[in-house]
Amino acid sequence: MKEKLKQIRENFQKALREGAEQLSQLRVKYFGKNGVFTELMKNLKNLPPEERPAFGKEVNQVKAELEGALSEAEQAELRRKREQELSEDRLDVTLPGVGRKTGSLHPLTLVKNQVLDAFLGLGFEIYDGPEVEYDYYSFEALNIPKDHPARDMQDTFYITDNVLLRPHTSPAQIRAMQKKGVPIRILCPGKVFRADDDATHSPMFHQIEGLAVEKDISLADLKGVLEVFATTVFDKSTKVRFRPSFFPFTEPSVEVDVSCSMCHGKGCRLCKGTGWIEILGAGMVHRNVLKNCGVDPDAYRGFAFGLGIERVTMIKYGIPDMRLLFENDVRFLKQFI
Ligand code: DAH
Repeated sequence: MKEKLKQIRENFQKALREGAEQLSQLRVKYFGKNGVFTELMKNLKNLPPEERPAFGKEVNQVKAELEGALSEAEQAELRRKREQELSEDRLDVTLPGVGRKTGSLHPLTLVKNQVLDAFLGLGFEIYDGPEVEYDYYSFEALNIPKDHPARDMQDTFYITDNVLLRPHTSPAQIRAMQKKGVPIRILCPGKVFRADDDATHSPMFHQIEGLAVEKDISLADLKGVLEVFATTVFDKSTKVRFRPSFFPFTEPSVEVDVSCSMCHGKGCRLCKGTGWIEILGAGMVHRNVLKNCGVDPDAYRGFAFGLGIERVTMIKYGIPDMRLLFENDVRFLKQFI
């Protein structure tokens, strides 16, 4: 038996030294349930009883010694594997990186923000109005009675006789004055809808409405405010001019032109040779509109304007077709980052 224990120890140490067997196999073979040591202990009963305790103790000592050696070898193997993994998976920081595509604001949003910024700096605040609107706010309160020919200026989408998709942001003027009273300076950016569809018209587009009502305000103030807008959104040298026009909700009404940003007034394709580009409609708020909002037209006056964001964007960037702004082709959009 003693000889056998010696043999076991030598065999084990040899196997461990030479790495002939995998460590996990060695563990099963020697220390498993049916392993060498279990067998040996089973044979203990063949020894004379007085020898058994001493030999049992010796077996346990050898077993603990060998098991310790095996554990150490296992730890060493684990470390070696880990080091190998680390050295093989080393990150090569000189490789070119994988570029991440970043999103960007849509050109209409960029221009809307620029326009809003120009006016917010002049004390205007944002007022939001509904896109589904009543006939009353869209037309009647704006001095456009039912059956008035001015209603033909806009091909409106009606939902019922009384409810429609707003064809302009002007109803926000009425809502804002009725809700907040005067004096007031508001801007209403948002979607508007008209039955129109070609290279320069879309059934849905965006406007920004502006309204300022104060005790002492004039067409000259309107011009000054629009000059700030034009020189902020286009370039610093941009000029603004008024031409007489007609809108039912303003009197007098003006069509506002800016000097062409491409040729600076000399005349080119963009401005059709005139040096000027029509950019928005504006005027002094009509007495009837003020009255409809409970404002005394003898005490207060106001100016208002409405501009199309698509139009400003197309002029600013020389975009020939409005549909490019709605197709959202990434090759187009990424030019505005
Ligand atoms: N609502 C007009 C339109 O959609 C634009 C407009 C013109 C708005 C003159 C105004 C204004 O506030 O004073 O064509």
